[in-house]
Amino acid sequence: MKLFDVYPLQPITIERASGSRVWDDQGQEYLDLYGGHAVISIGHGHPVWINRIKDQLIKISFYSNSIHIPLQVQLAEKLGIVSGKTDYQLFLCNSGAEANENALKLASFHTNRKKIVAFKGAFHGRTSLAVSATDNKNYIAPVNETENIVFLPFNDSTALETYFQKAGNSIAAVIVEGIQGVGGIRVASNEFLQSIRRCCDQHGAVYIADSVQCGYGRSGKFYSHDHAGVNADIYTMAKGMGNGFPIAGLSIAPHIQPKHFQLGTTFGGNHLACAAALAVLEVIESESLIQHAATLGNYIQESLRQIPELSDVRGYGLMIGFDYPENIPTLRQHLLFKKHIFTGEAKPRVVRLLPSLALSQVDADRFLQDLRDSIQELQSASA
Ligand SMILES: Cc1ncc(COP(=O)(O)O)c(C=O)c1O
Repeated sequence: MKLFDVYPLQPITIERASGSRVWDDQGQEYLDLYGGHAVISIGHGHPVWINRIKDQLIKISFYSNSIHIPLQVQLAEKLGIVSGKTDYQLFLCNSGAEANENALKLASFHTNRKKIVAFKGAFHGRTSLAVSATDNKNYIAPVNETENIVFLPFNDSTALETYFQKAGNSIAAVIVEGIQGVGGIRVASNEFLQSIRRCCDQHGAVYIADSVQCGYGRSGKFYSHDHAGVNADIYTMAKGMGNGFPIAGLSIAPHIQPKHFQLGTTFGGNHLACAAALAVLEVIESESLIQHAATLGNYIQESLRQIPELSDVRGYGLMIGFDYPENIPTLRQHLLFKKHIFTGEAKPRVVRLLPSLALSQVDADRFLQDLRDSIQELQSASA
């Protein structure tokens, strides 16, 4: 059997990793500013995380959600404290798409309505409703096509308010990324998120904050929506939650009541996943990683703004994007193969930085210097 070929691959095989470094099968070291797509939150192979998982593996790794799992309760308590939402409720699942799928379904159950407002440029995952709410026709199979999802322009409060005036009573939920990730690091303005909150309050709709990529401290606050001073009704989270161990969740406001069997999962919230997620939260707290992400992120953004070839430097914390010019289209490949630095991309020419929240100042400076050098080298070669 061969692999189903859905991913364009870089010709690199990573064999081991530590902190913000990874090594390939030739022994070549790379600086990781991509974090395996924003997943590595506390750093590759963090000892607290490894030991927690190892200890748990020896005790019990899995049993079904039909029994008490105290680790889930511990995780809910800890997440409530670290995220500043102690009165919210936690539902655990396995991936970002599954988290959004459940959030949309829960909003529909809660309101008994069908319409979902999503935004241009949004990415919410590959499964049924999540992909229908994703603004990319290539990902939407005929069976996923639905009139229940409406796409409005991102960061346009007037368009949102106009739509709510027209259809407010049929809207179950608004789903929005605080910072669009796949869309190219597009920050939702404070005013836009506040208008979503206002519209949802006025019309009884559910505000779903897709925090799968921009959450878990990456923005320099636990949820990027916190920058706007708003509370969502449901936060979805995944990537950074397990530092690479698959786990996802919904943090659900107290006014949304649970009903038995409305949501469910076999693997979600298993013992090993909870152990990994608890280790992540402990390290985020003990190493003050959210404050670190804010400070180092500001420094990186300021430094990027000093590089004249780059434009539209944007983001919060360690979720940063910038555009590079047409005359150096191979910048990311140069960074990867000549400087051995992993970065993320968005179309047409956007570099996305999604490093571990524990990225050091030294590594940030190395990246900045290698970036300046790469731009000079590529420009000289094309002159
Ligand atoms: C904002 C956002 N939501 C949802 C998802 C889907 O997450 P997963 O790939 O874990 O299903 C992603 C993945 O990139 C994402 O960036």
